[in-house]
Amino acid sequence: MKKRYLYFMKHIVVLTGAGMSAESGIKTFRDSDGLWEGHDVMEVATPEGFAANPELVLDFYNQRRRQLFEVEPNQAHYDLAKLETNYKVTVVTQNVDDLHERAGSSNVIHLHGELLKVRSTYDTNDIQDWKTDLVLGDKCKKGDQLRPHIVWFGEDVPMIEIAVKICETADILIIIGTSMQVYPAAGLMNYVPKHTPMYFIDPKPSIDCKENLTVIAETATVGVTKFIELFTT
Ligand SMILES: NC(=O)c1ccc[n+]([C@@H]2O[C@H](COP(=O)([O-])OP(=O)(O)OC[C@H]3O[C@@H](n4cnc5c(N)ncnc54)[C@H](O)[C@@H]3O)[C@@H](O)[C@H]2O)c1
Repeated sequence: MKKRYLYFMKHIVVLTGAGMSAESGIKTFRDSDGLWEGHDVMEVATPEGFAANPELVLDFYNQRRRQLFEVEPNQAHYDLAKLETNYKVTVVTQNVDDLHERAGSSNVIHLHGELLKVRSTYDTNDIQDWKTDLVLGDKCKKGDQLRPHIVWFGEDVPMIEIAVKICETADILIIIGTSMQVYPAAGLMNYVPKHTPMYFIDPKPSIDCKENLTVIAETATVGVTKFIELFTT
């Protein structure tokens, strides 16, 4: 019986960006003049930046990883997780934090990698969990230097094809806390079936309401509550 019920559950796809975690205390890019915690992204989030100064880059992600242990999911992360009681929910996030998982979401795709994983600098598939600082000299089993498992600007986004397929099966799309400036993530909304209801939650929304798109110009916590009121009443 349970399996048959699940089959008929509506599929909510949620696309999240840095704004989703802002109320947990993790800064976005846009609200910091394009800097990431005071750093030029070209220095800390590109392969060229890593080649030029690997210690600086490793240290930057070490600080981000340490910060992650000091923050908690916010109410919006928890509310999205609760939607799984009545819907099939897939979260496709640009965020590299683990706050969706910690709030209880069971189906999370990380487009831009994860802070709590590292990978070989040579083999993109040689990935391992990592909770402490990463330093020069930390190597994979084959003896190659490890690097953060982060998709840097200019690198391929391996999860994008899976994300496209997920969007193609959406019954409802919610987009939360993204400036819609980083591609290919920003293009995912174009893959949902025609006429799919879409909701965009962001206090400074970068797109306008149109036919099947409702803009909720609020923070993630207020906006997700409003979405639930609109959608379930
Ligand atoms: N938490 C994280 O993992 C984290 C943090 C910073 C940057 N990043 C990376 O930065 C890239 C930047 O793209 P982006 O579009 O995700 O971020 P962005 O910084 O370009 O845009 C953030 C968006 O969040 C909105 N916002 C600010 N406060 C909000 C709130 N309380 N609730 C809801 N929305 C809020 C802003 O108006 C803006 O539109 C991504 O690739 C991501 O990997 C990740």
